[in-house]
Amino acid sequence: MSADRAGDGGAPAPWFAGTDADPPPSAVGALLASIGDAVYAVDHDGRVRFANPAALAVLGYDTTEELLGRPSHATIHHRRPDGTPFPEAECPLLRPRTDGEAVRVEEDWFVRRDGTMVPVSYSSAPLDTGEGRGAVVVFRDETERREAERVRRREAVERARADAVDASRARILAAADGERRRLGRDLHDGAQQRLMTVALTVQQGLGDLERDPARARATLEDAVTEARATIAELRDLVAGIHPSILTNRGLAAAVASLTARSPLPVVVDVPERRWAERAEATAWFVIAEALANVAKHAGATRAVVAVTDEDGALQVLVRDDGHGGADPAAGGGLQGLRDRVEAVGGTFAVAGGAPSGTVLTARIPLPA
Ligand SMILES: Nc1ncnc2c1ncn2[C@@H]1O[C@H](COP(=O)(O)OP(=O)(O)OP(=O)(O)O)[C@@H](O)[C@H]1O
Ligand SMILES: [Mg+2]
Repeated sequence: MSADRAGDGGAPAPWFAGTDADPPPSAVGALLASIGDAVYAVDHDGRVRFANPAALAVLGYDTTEELLGRPSHATIHHRRPDGTPFPEAECPLLRPRTDGEAVRVEEDWFVRRDGTMVPVSYSSAPLDTGEGRGAVVVFRDETERREAERVRRREAVERARADAVDASRARILAAADGERRRLGRDLHDGAQQRLMTVALTVQQGLGDLERDPARARATLEDAVTEARATIAELRDLVAGIHPSILTNRGLAAAVASLTARSPLPVVVDVPERRWAERAEATAWFVIAEALANVAKHAGATRAVVAVTDEDGALQVLVRDDGHGGADPAAGGGLQGLRDRVEAVGGTFAVAGGAPSGTVLTARIPLPA
């Protein structure tokens, strides 16, 4: 290809002339004039020798002549968007001119005629001009795509933020639910046994009222004592701690206090020693609910409570000689115990039935 020069020594004639009526456009010129991609070519000196209408539109020029013959880098690529200079030596745009290799750049900026910057992507390929190696650049205005990408990214960030807020809200709700359930279980497993004993004692006192007023009075006084103990225990539970006797004196004392006024005889075998607070509390709640169930449902004449410390765990057993039929699916108590024990990594089982009564066992791991 030869570089035609205008006869009067002004701007060189463009390659691939296609927009002028005279001379009539070549087929390549007509094609380049009509495509949507911006096409731009430089000669071996790095001077602009062609720009199609799409390239003029992106760069903000009205006619090809305004660009022809101008040094390409100094005209459209000398500045970065932050205002700092873009040294020609670092510029990949015209490198095919020197090294003969094509390049593709997805994110760059060109300087428009009015000095504003336009985001572009381009590919630049070497072009043999006959006078030396030039380059042909096909580029695209990326303003809309980058804006769309920015919006997409912002939406993704906002979505992620909203998801994180939802997740933390769910965790807070779950924690609040968990705490409510824990309090409910503590009330159910702890205070219920005592309140039931109060009710049974009052009932017994009322039954004796006519027959044996003195005995009735003693029984009702017992009921008052038990009611006071229940109030104290409720106070402890509301404060979020276990019965103070458990905290202060341990499991054996707390179980003894629990069974002291039981409506049926309970044989207790709990070692007089201390374990981790959580393990003691879990064992205590298991025993309290199990004994409440025995009193309420079993029709038993006696019960046994045994605790051993074996294989790094507290083994809790509560057995009665009642008619059996314990069913965790039938109420909240046994299910709550299972949750409570499993929450500390233990196991829980209910077995037995008539004629041998119910056996409830729990294995509560002790911290190493
Ligand atoms: N020791 C037992 N002997 C016989 N039946 C029992 C025994 N323990 C529990 N049950 C039966 O199993 C059912 C479930 O017991 P669970 O403790 O889960 O619920 P509940 O005592 O009925 O109600 P709550 O939610 O107040 O504890 C009871 O309703 C009862 O029928
Ligand atoms: Mg129950």
